[in-house]
Amino acid sequence: MYNEKVMDHFQNPRNVGSIEDADGVGEVGSAACGDIMKIFIKVDADCIADIKFQTYGCGAAVASSSMLTEIVRGMPLTQAETVTNAQVAEALGGLPGVKLHCSNLAADALQSAIADYRSRL
Ligand code: FES
Repeated sequence: MYNEKVMDHFQNPRNVGSIEDADGVGEVGSAACGDIMKIFIKVDADCIADIKFQTYGCGAAVASSSMLTEIVRGMPLTQAETVTNAQVAEALGGLPGVKLHCSNLAADALQSAIADYRSRL
């Protein structure tokens, strides 16, 4: 069901965990399955200096979050704000159609974390 890249990120997820003094935290839930995604960011010089995630979701959600953290680490906030769910799924080499809602969690949680950071300024 999953390709090799998805399986790699699922079995060896990058950047799992939390950041205690995060500058922004985003949490979203999936209406489709009820799973939850939480993303923590540290911001330095308007760039994402550090990013971690926690998820109560399936393998596709774990792989999507892991890939997302790799894509946006070090990226300027203005650029990270434009990263879409489709880009994450594409970077993973595609996901089964029934699992696309899972990849939505990652980018949505990131956008929520950035919005939280901006609301604190
Ligand atoms: Fe819920 Fe994938 S089934 S995140």
